[in-house]
Amino acid sequence: QPTLKDAYKDSFMMGAALSKNQVLGNEPKSLKVVAREFNTVTAENEMKWEAIQPTEGTFTFESADALAQFSEDYDQFFVGHTLVWHHQTPDWVFEDEHGNPASKELVLKRMEAHINKVASRYAGQVDGWDVVNESLNDDGTWRESKWYQILGDQYIVYAFEMAQKAAPDTELYYNDYNLFKPEKRAGAVKIVKSLQAKGVRIDGVGIQGHYGIGYPDLNELEKSIQAFGDLGVKVMITELDISVLPFPDTESQGADVSIDLELQATLNPFENGLSPQMDQQLADAYQEIFELLLRHDDTISRVTFWGVNDNQTWRNDWPMKGRSDYPLLFDRQNEPKAAYQSVLKLK
Ligand code: XIL
Repeated sequence: QPTLKDAYKDSFMMGAALSKNQVLGNEPKSLKVVAREFNTVTAENEMKWEAIQPTEGTFTFESADALAQFSEDYDQFFVGHTLVWHHQTPDWVFEDEHGNPASKELVLKRMEAHINKVASRYAGQVDGWDVVNESLNDDGTWRESKWYQILGDQYIVYAFEMAQKAAPDTELYYNDYNLFKPEKRAGAVKIVKSLQAKGVRIDGVGIQGHYGIGYPDLNELEKSIQAFGDLGVKVMITELDISVLPFPDTESQGADVSIDLELQATLNPFENGLSPQMDQQLADAYQEIFELLLRHDDTISRVTFWGVNDNQTWRNDWPMKGRSDYPLLFDRQNEPKAAYQSVLKLK
């Protein structure tokens, strides 16, 4: 039986997010799966700003280096994630020495120092960077992040220019979630077009795929794949996982769910194992999405799952902590699930 990367090699790369625990910790089984099934890896957390430059001028590269080394040893296309984002970025980046909001000049200087240091260090190892992550609201307007508030909407242009200078041979991407939504799609199209109009290189758009059963509307996803493809950039499904759990209204339920046991049970129905019915529904959901992706394999260059197995997926803790989710192709013992077979059999 072929493996995912072999089966899909004439369509697109197949990948997974990789974490420090896997490479430096004690998860040899999941690493074996990565080596066997995938030909591309993305740094799940280890290349985020807080991991690499926790305090100004102090760079900690050990974990990121270990991931880079793994990608080299196993001949994987390595994606760096991410240079500019509003999460997992320390507060000091946006503050002056008195704790007041930093000036535009200071933030730009820090952005340049960070991108320059990190992107040039990994030039030749990182094959593609998520240069900017999650700049948009779901309605397509700018997210009011510190980056936006201090630097204005040009911050994306600055980031791509800096990345291009530091890593001229590395692919440069814009990455975001909910890009199937028409307004958000339009916002991302605007970002790509404005970079292109300024002569600033952008090589691809990453469509984060944090999905659920029956979510999203695949017709809308298809329109987004086409819209980005029409701009002449690569399209990637990044961060793919399909949750089998109800999506809680965290705004109203959030913290209180832990004391409301009845409610919690309805939101965490597979605590004692996934039902065969739901296992099959997940397999069907994966089949449907891969049928769509395969119809567009001339546009799509890569599909990356956000994690390897159900044990270490972030979905166990998001959008609610302490759940038992089953969003990936491999189970908690790193054995392939029905969803794995349904993806593999399409090729
Ligand atoms: C997540 C990681 O998977 C978690 O381990 C971490 O605690 C939080 O971040 N969008 C992104 C990713 O671009 O970086 C996020 O990764 C998931 C949402």
